[in-house]
Amino acid sequence: MSTIVKMSHVSKDYYPSRNEKVSAVNDISFEIYEGETFGLVGESGSGKSTTGKLLLKLEGASKGEIEFMGQDIANIESRKDLLSFRKNIQMIFQDPYSSLNPRMTIKEIIGGPMVVHGLVKNNKERDQAVHHLMELVGLNPAYANRYPREFSGGQCQRVGIARALALNPKLIIADEAISALDVSIQAQIVNLLRQLKRENNLTFLFITHDLSMVKYLSDRIGVMSQGRLLETAPADEIYECPLHQYTESLLSAIPEADPLKAKERQRVQYQGLNYSEAEWKDVKMREIAPGHQVLCHPNEVAAYRRKYTVLRTKQQDTAFIKQKSSTINHNYYGKVVTL
Ligand SMILES: Nc1ncnc2c1ncn2[C@@H]1O[C@H](COP(=O)(O)OP(=O)(O)OP(=O)(O)O)[C@@H](O)[C@H]1O
Ligand SMILES: [Mg+2]
Repeated sequence: MSTIVKMSHVSKDYYPSRNEKVSAVNDISFEIYEGETFGLVGESGSGKSTTGKLLLKLEGASKGEIEFMGQDIANIESRKDLLSFRKNIQMIFQDPYSSLNPRMTIKEIIGGPMVVHGLVKNNKERDQAVHHLMELVGLNPAYANRYPREFSGGQCQRVGIARALALNPKLIIADEAISALDVSIQAQIVNLLRQLKRENNLTFLFITHDLSMVKYLSDRIGVMSQGRLLETAPADEIYECPLHQYTESLLSAIPEADPLKAKERQRVQYQGLNYSEAEWKDVKMREIAPGHQVLCHPNEVAAYRRKYTVLRTKQQDTAFIKQKSSTINHNYYGKVVTL
C-alpha cells in the first residue's frame, strides 16, 4: 500500500490578537494510503478543517512537514507546480449551494476546471466530458445548461462531486460534505461516494463531526480533539474497540435507535488530557495493536493493551453468539441456508 499523504508533527498556530494564540492543530502525524478513505472526526473546533486547509496548501504550517505523493508541499512554489498540485487534490465543500457560483451553468461549473487545466481541446470535448461526469454522479445530462438554484441540495452536492472528479485527482478532501443534507440524501451521497471510490480507486480524506456516518465510508479513522490527534485505527476497530476516553465519549453520544440498547448505554464523560509538563515530553502516538495507535505516555501502554484485549475478546464473543443464534433461527424454520 503506497502512502499518498504523510503528515509529520504538523502544527498550526493562529494569532487572532497580539497576546492571543490559538493552537488549531498541535503536533499531529498520520498517513493516508492510496485508495483508502481516511475519516477525520472530532468535535467542533478540534482542528479538522485546518488540517484539510494545511494539506491543500491554503494555509502554511507553523511546524512540521506535509508530504503529498512523496513531495514536501512547502517546496511547491512555481506556478506550474502549484497548478499540478491543485489538479491532484480536489475539495468537496460543506454547503452545496454557496460553493457553486450562482451565475454559472452546471456545464460551466463542472467543465471550467478542465478548460483551465487544458484537459479538453474545445467546447465539444468539454460538453462530452461534462455529460459523462453528470451521468457518473447520477445527474441527468440534459440539465447541463441549468443553474444551481434550479437544483435541490442533494443534486447540488452531486454537482460539487462531479466538479471535484473533473480533473481526475489523486486525493479528494470532503469537509463536512454531507452534514448539511437531509438524512435520506446523506445516505444517497454516501452510497455514491462509496461507489465512485470502488470504481475509480479514489483516495478520500473525509472530514466530519458525525461519527455515525463516517463509519460507512472510511477504511481508517483518526479522532481529533483540541488540535490533537488522539487515536487512529481501522474504522471498525474505532467502533468496536475504542481505546481513548475521548473516542469513547464521542461514541457514547451517537443516538441509539433501539430503546433497549439506548437504556443500557452510559454516557462517557471526557476528562481531557491531564499530563504534567514533564510527562508531555514523552507523550506521542503509540501502537497498541496492529494499525491501532493512541496518543499516550509510555506508562499508559500496558493498560491500553489490556483494554484492547478485553474489548476484542468481548467483540469476538458477541459475533460468535450472533452467528450461533442466526443458525438456530434458520434451523428452526427448517430452511437450508448457507450462512
Ligand atoms: N483563521 C483563523 N484565525 C484564528 N483562529 C482560527 C482560524 N481558523 C481556525 N481557527 C481556530 O482554530 C480552531 C480549529 O478550527 P477548525 O476550523 O479547524 O475546526 P473544525 O474541527 O473544522 O471545527 P468544525 O467542526 O466546527 O468545522 C478553532 O478554535 C478555530 O476558532
Ligand atoms: Mg470544519
